[in-house]
Amino acid sequence: MKNFVYDIPTKVYFGENQLTGNLSNELKKYGSKVLLVYGGGSIKKIGLYEKIIAELKNSDLKLFELSGIEPNPRHTSVNEGAKICKAEDIDVILAVGGGSVIDASKFIAAGKYYDGDTWDFFTGKADIKAALPIVNILTLAATGSEMDAGGVITNLDTKEKLGRIDSHLQPKVAFLDPTNTYTVSRYQTACGSADILSHIIETYFAREPGLFMLDTVMEGLMKTVIKYTPIALSQSNNYEARANLMWTSSWAINGFVRADKPHAWSCHPLEHELSAFYDITHGLGLAILTPRWMKYVLNEKTVDKFYQFGVNVFDIDKRESKTNVANQAIKLLEEFLYNDLGLTDNLTKLNISDEYFDTMAERIGTLNRFVDLNKNDIINIYKMCL
Ligand code: NZQ
Ligand code: ZN
Repeated sequence: MKNFVYDIPTKVYFGENQLTGNLSNELKKYGSKVLLVYGGGSIKKIGLYEKIIAELKNSDLKLFELSGIEPNPRHTSVNEGAKICKAEDIDVILAVGGGSVIDASKFIAAGKYYDGDTWDFFTGKADIKAALPIVNILTLAATGSEMDAGGVITNLDTKEKLGRIDSHLQPKVAFLDPTNTYTVSRYQTACGSADILSHIIETYFAREPGLFMLDTVMEGLMKTVIKYTPIALSQSNNYEARANLMWTSSWAINGFVRADKPHAWSCHPLEHELSAFYDITHGLGLAILTPRWMKYVLNEKTVDKFYQFGVNVFDIDKRESKTNVANQAIKLLEEFLYNDLGLTDNLTKLNISDEYFDTMAERIGTLNRFVDLNKNDIINIYKMCL
C-alpha cells in the first residue's frame, strides 16, 4: 500500500429537513453576499428554490442569482458567474443542483480571483490561487462533486471538455437530502448510477496491490448501486434507495477509497471526449464504454482482478475458472446497465460514428493505467462501442 494523504474537509448535513437553521448559519460563516447558482429550473419545480428563499428570508444574507447552468456546463456560464462575483463582491456561493451546477460553481468561485477567461484554468495558462467558499445542496446522486475537489467544464468553441482538481475547490458544506432526488427522471437516475459505479470501477481496477480493506469497501459500494438503483427506478420516492445512492455517490469519489493509485481512471478520459464532441450525458457514455474497456483489457495478467470483481460483487461461484468468472462478470455488468437500468447499449444508436475517433484518441494520448492504452487501443475501444 502506497503512502497517501486523507483529507476530506467537507461538512455534510445528511437527511431530511436539515436546511432549517443550518443553511443560513453555515452561509453566514463566510460573509453576507451569497450567489445562488442553479440549472435549468428543476429546483423551482421541486419546491427547493422556495424553501431556500424562505430559509434565508429572515437572515441578514443578501442573495444574488445565476440560473441556467447547462448539463455539461459551459465555460461561458462560468465566466458569467465569475463576473457577477467580482461586480457584486460575493462572499460565498450556494450551488443547488447536480454535478453540472456544482462543477460550474467551483470555477466561478475560482474565477472571482482571476482576471481573465476562466477557461485558462483548464489549458494550463492559469493556476487556481484562491476560490470563494462553496456550500452546496445536491439534487442528483451521480458525480460526487458535492464532496470532491474537482470539476469538468465544456468549451463548445473548441469542442473540449476538460477537468481540473484543486484543493481550493473542495466544498465547505454539503446538504445531502435524499428527498431532493425523488423527482430525478428514470433516465438521469440510471445515468447517475452508471457514473457512481464507474467511479468505483475506475479506482478498483488499478495496478496497485495490497489494498484489501479498500477493495472490500469498494465492493460494498458497488453492491449498493446494483441493489438500490432498480428500486429507485421503480419507486422514485423510496427513501432508503435514494439515501443509499446519494451517500455512495459521495464516497465513490471523495478520496477515501482512492488512497494513492496513479494507475486508476481508464474510461473517464474516453467519455469526456465523447461528451465534448456529442454533448451526451456523462453516465450514459460511461455505461457504453466500461464493458467494452473491460473486454479489451481482460487478459491472463488482469484476470485475477476480474475474478475478484465477479466473485465479490456479482456473487459468481468462486469454484469456476477465473476466465469464466471474468466473462460472466462483464456480462452481468452489461445486463445491469442495459436491461435493469435501460440505458442505450451502443454509440450507433446515439447517431455517433467513427468520424472523430482519431481526433479524440489523439487528444487523449497515452494512458498509463490498469492496462496501458495507446492511441490505437483507444480507437479500438471506441470502435467496439459502435
Ligand atoms: O438543470 P436542471 O433544471 O437542474 O436539471 C437537471 C439536468 O437537466 C436535472 N436534475 C438535477 N436534479 C434534479 C433534476 N431533475 C429533476 N429533479 C431533480 N432533483 O438533471 C439533469 C442533469 O443534471 P447534471 O447536473 O448535468 O447531472 P450530473 O449530476 O450527472 O452532472 C454531470 C456533470 O458532472 C461532470 C460530468 O462530466 C458532467 O459534466 N462530472 C463531475 C465530476 C466531479 N466533479 O468530480 C466527476 C464526474 O466523473 C463527472 O465528469
Ligand atoms: Zn464520472
